[in-house]
Amino acid sequence: MTQTLRIAPSILSADFARLGEEVRAIEAAGADLVHFDVMDNHYVPNLTIGPLVCEAIRPHVKIGIDVHLMVEPVDSLIPLFARAGANLITFHPEASRHVDRTLSLIRELGCKAGLVLNPASPLDWLDHVMDKLDIILLMGVNPGFGGQKFIPSTLGKLRAVRQRIAAHQDSGGQPIWLEVDGGVKIDNIQQIVRAGADTCVAGSAVFSAPDADGGYRGVMQALRQAAA
Ligand code: DX5
Ligand code: ZN
Repeated sequence: MTQTLRIAPSILSADFARLGEEVRAIEAAGADLVHFDVMDNHYVPNLTIGPLVCEAIRPHVKIGIDVHLMVEPVDSLIPLFARAGANLITFHPEASRHVDRTLSLIRELGCKAGLVLNPASPLDWLDHVMDKLDIILLMGVNPGFGGQKFIPSTLGKLRAVRQRIAAHQDSGGQPIWLEVDGGVKIDNIQQIVRAGADTCVAGSAVFSAPDADGGYRGVMQALRQAAA
């Protein structure tokens, strides 16, 4: 792997009472993206943050906001997030009636678009939309909560998707990022990157970093070193 690793801390594990400060701190610590988890208590059994919070944190950082929609239905929220300053928007294909249309909608609004596949979701969802994807996100856990354990079968899926992306680009296709979300830690990030991920979400790993070990900057450096 020659590309540089992008790290996207998930603010699901941040201190919600101090979100502005928290996103500034991860940017200063070297984060590449802010990962923003949207849960609706319908597609997933949890409830988090929406476009108003995205708009509120937008002026605090220059890095991109990576909005992960765990909601059903999907389409009505997309313009709200685009207006609120999202740069990337990903969604779960089972939560959209018209996956191709939803991907187009995201791009029409000027954001990068991506699909998120759960641990049990087949890669077939990618078959007919490779040209509409800027990013593919593979879940390393079942969506809904931070702090879960990485499901090892994700590694085989990462390798398979990396091959699909390579084949797509070899035949003249656009670049597609490969992101992994859930259970990424210092002790498994090397395997994950070797399997093909170029973008790693890390929630609890980053936000539970002890100050004594250099805080957010320390853990982000440790993640990069472990991945290298
Ligand atoms: C899970 C979320 C993840 C989560 C990752 O549904 O999509 O982004 O916050 O948290 P960790 O890194 O703690 O597994
Ligand atoms: Zn997420």
